[in-house]
Amino acid sequence: MSATAPPEVLLRVRDLAVHFPLGGGLFGPRKLVRAVDGVSFDIPRGRTFGIVGESGSGKSTTALAVMRLVRLTAGSVRLGEDDIGALQGEGLRRVRRRFQMVFQDPFASLNPRKRAGDAILEALELMEVGAPDQRPELARQLFLQTGLRPEQLQLFPHQFSGGQRQRIVLARALAARPELVVCDEPVSALDVAIQAQILNLMQRLQRELGLTYLFISHDLGVIRHMCDEIGVMYLGQIVEQASRTDLFERPLHPYTLALWSAAPSFDPDTRSRRGRIRLQGDPPSPIDVPPGCRFAGRCPSAEPRCHAEPPPLREVRPGHRVACHRVSQDGVALY
Ligand SMILES: Nc1ncnc2c1ncn2[C@@H]1O[C@H](COP(=O)(O)OP(=O)(O)O)[C@@H](O)[C@H]1O
Ligand code: SF4
Ligand SMILES: [Mg+2]
Repeated sequence: MSATAPPEVLLRVRDLAVHFPLGGGLFGPRKLVRAVDGVSFDIPRGRTFGIVGESGSGKSTTALAVMRLVRLTAGSVRLGEDDIGALQGEGLRRVRRRFQMVFQDPFASLNPRKRAGDAILEALELMEVGAPDQRPELARQLFLQTGLRPEQLQLFPHQFSGGQRQRIVLARALAARPELVVCDEPVSALDVAIQAQILNLMQRLQRELGLTYLFISHDLGVIRHMCDEIGVMYLGQIVEQASRTDLFERPLHPYTLALWSAAPSFDPDTRSRRGRIRLQGDPPSPIDVPPGCRFAGRCPSAEPRCHAEPPPLREVRPGHRVACHRVSQDGVALY
């Protein structure tokens, strides 16, 4: 492989939409919740792609769609050569071990009546990893790898701290030897001091095992710590996408600027350059999405066109895409 060869893309998401039908009946109009509405991104193998956005923007639904835990309304999700959205039955079972998910609340994702070791053994069995007589040793190794002690395999979830429980969840996810790990707010339920330990563990595991992460968080500090490339989601769509450096040093979308401004100790550069942008009101409902730019109702820079025409997501600098009428073709903010 030459030094300039582009990295292999492991996950390719194209025009993904997940709409949930809501209410209605035989006679009533059927409404749609447009939870995810046309999302595309690639994750190269071994890298971390982050999704950030307010609550309700569609981050979790995107994660669930990638995991094939909700039905795709439109678009495609490919893991390497496998079209995850189209697979059924045995084909889907076969690719399942290639991707695993880690959720926010480690307590809810562990069975309180099951010893930690049994949870790991069960995962090894389910994914048919190793011969049955090798599995206890594999469980020991997974515990060591995630910073737990093998004698703790005997304990029940309530005997661990929150951070340790998230280590068990990671060990269980890794039992399948996945290539992609989808992490939905994996440290949001933990104390700040513990968050750093878990994030550092996840980075070490990524280096050691060559893992690829889809990493979701509403916390800008966590996103900046973890991600190589980031998509900012608003009401079911990615409104800006760039490398970590570009997004944090040269954010372009008014919503991204507002998010950055809303984090008190966050980005003084942005504040001094353009002044603080306050987010007003709540996002509109994904049931009645506005016809133009979805952010128009809250955007301090909206002009009449913004309420009428949806801005396309355009590449305005290499690798930096933004959906805003008031950003020029060469990436200059005109607001
Ligand atoms: N199963 C569902 N049925 C109906 N609406 C849903 C369902 N799941 C999520 N939603 C709605 O979709 C939107 C996006 O939700 P979600 O993906 O959980 O956002 P986030 O993770 O960014 O907070 C929200 O308005 C939420 O209420
Ligand atoms: S398109 Fe208009 S309303 Fe939307 S973010 Fe840009 S300036 Fe604001
Ligand atoms: Mg969520």
